[in-house]
Amino acid sequence: MGRLAILFFLFSTLNADDFIEKRDYAKLLYSNPRGIGCNKCHGENGKGNAIALYAQKGKQKILSAPAINNMSKAQFFTALKNPKSVMPRYSLTLEEFESLYEYVSSKK
Ligand code: HEC
Repeated sequence: MGRLAILFFLFSTLNADDFIEKRDYAKLLYSNPRGIGCNKCHGENGKGNAIALYAQKGKQKILSAPAINNMSKAQFFTALKNPKSVMPRYSLTLEEFESLYEYVSSKK
């Protein structure tokens, strides 16, 4: 077996539950959840972010997405199932919600 074949063999036997792989997957999902990325509004680390500045009745207003890295799992799930304001509704599986939750919660 050539060196490359051995490397390939090693990679293909890595467990799908491997911690690094799970994190990488969750990170991808966070920025590309079959819709607009969570990161676009909540920031790269889920720490919250200003989305837009606008004026209303002559007053400067700010539309922002809250921090989502410090929530209980129940709060997180409820918010995703029942989005408010400009937050889009996503059709993700329970496993995907779980991954997103673990990913952003690890960014505290
Ligand atoms: C277009 C901007 C936008 C995108 C994209 C977006 N959100 Fe939000 N999200 C918001 C806003 C704005 C709120 C606050 C809603 C409100 O007024 O209660 C929010 C609220 C939340 C909350 C509840 C926060 C709280 O304190 O109650 C969670 C959890 C959340 N978003 C997770 C996500 C995840 C995960 C994704 C990606 C799958 C995502 N959001 C994508 C704008 C966005």
